[in-house]
Amino acid sequence: MLQVPHGGPELPQRRNLVTEIPGPASRALFERRLGVVARGVSTTLPVFITAAGGGVLLDADGNSLIDFGAGIAVVSVGNAAPDVVSRVSAQVAQFTHTCFMVTPYEGYVEVCEQLARLTPGEHEKRSALFNSGAEAVENAVKIARHYTGRQAVVAFDHAYHGRTNLTMALTAKNMPYKQGFGPFAGEIYRVPMAYPLRWPDGPDACRAEALSVVKSLIHTQVGESNVAAVIIEPIQGEGGFIVPPDGFLRGLADFCADHGIVFIADEIQSGFCRTGDWFASSHEGVVPDLVTTAKGIAGGLPLAAVTGRAEIMDAVHPGGLGGTYGGNPVACAAALGAIETMESMDLSARARRIGDIMLPRLRKLAETYPVIADVRGRGAMVAVELTRPGTLEPDPASTAAVAGACHRAGLVVLTCGTFGNVLRFLPPLVIGEELLEEGLDILEDAFASL
Ligand SMILES: Cc1ncc(COP(=O)(O)O)c(C=O)c1O
Repeated sequence: MLQVPHGGPELPQRRNLVTEIPGPASRALFERRLGVVARGVSTTLPVFITAAGGGVLLDADGNSLIDFGAGIAVVSVGNAAPDVVSRVSAQVAQFTHTCFMVTPYEGYVEVCEQLARLTPGEHEKRSALFNSGAEAVENAVKIARHYTGRQAVVAFDHAYHGRTNLTMALTAKNMPYKQGFGPFAGEIYRVPMAYPLRWPDGPDACRAEALSVVKSLIHTQVGESNVAAVIIEPIQGEGGFIVPPDGFLRGLADFCADHGIVFIADEIQSGFCRTGDWFASSHEGVVPDLVTTAKGIAGGLPLAAVTGRAEIMDAVHPGGLGGTYGGNPVACAAALGAIETMESMDLSARARRIGDIMLPRLRKLAETYPVIADVRGRGAMVAVELTRPGTLEPDPASTAAVAGACHRAGLVVLTCGTFGNVLRFLPPLVIGEELLEEGLDILEDAFASL
């Protein structure tokens, strides 16, 4: 029986493989899993984790892996971050649940105060707390519809907003998110994303044309006065880490303001220091009407929020929003610990530093391996898109091969993209630079092995 250490930043910050990946203990657990866990819940890398912290994950076989995934952009403060652990432990010992809608508690209010302080804009704000990103997005749409008295919602190509019925409708990608799960919620309209690499007339044309194409489609196919909300990820996540050209988000926000449309920024993946600022909208000085957050907000505990202009949020009647667990006291304690860590360690600066290390190395890699068609991202939300050299034809096979080689060498990387041809990198923001460089060395070897 392996002696399992505690997780957190004290874990030795090094890669150490003592078995093949996955090892025998993980394989045995995976066998058990097959008999009881639904097949629809997939696994990127079947190593079973026993402890984690900083930039490493320890598995059931005693392997120590480098983490470039952070549980899909969640543990930005690192796993078992000390401020999260201490606040959560104290809260668990006090009480674990009352339901904020029945008998409230201070932690919920404190998280909403922090959200009012940290989200873009100086206006008066209100927040409502939920359990998952999808739930936050659903509620943002409910609020926007209620406030405007309109029904239509505009979402983008390559968007990902979740797996509930309404958020599946907002999500662009069919397989695996939507296939066989319809019918979907109505009154959702899709417009092209400003995707520089894949804009029909190229990146420069994308900058010049994307906004007017979107506006024209909304005008001709939906009618501005019917639109309750436009929802966009300021940097798209699952769709491929697509960064729109400067000016696109701002133009969209201005268009919404001109037509009484609620502008919703889905910052669930891009928020909380990930891109080198508290929120990705801030890079362009965009102030959304509503912001949805989750993932990085609470150091790994399930918490999500909708934060927005007081007059929009408060348009909803008492009892119109909520849920049994939304803003659970333990999750709120975790969020307060995570926010404290982000501030005390200046994790936005750490994210920018991670980008400054990763992006030049990835660009160099792209010069050597023409299968890399694009290197993009901001801060610690970066990706490479793989195509057949010299074309825009997606290359999901090479993407999977590189990811597989990384996994076998003890580097956890994730893929994404509408065409499954994007490798994305989302290390915990507390990862050490040596580990980061070692992860990049492994990635380099993985490309060399193609
Ligand atoms: C931008 C964005 N919105 C919404 C969601 C859904 O969040 P959750 O998985 O917590 O429901 C995600 C999850 O990846 C996301 O990246």
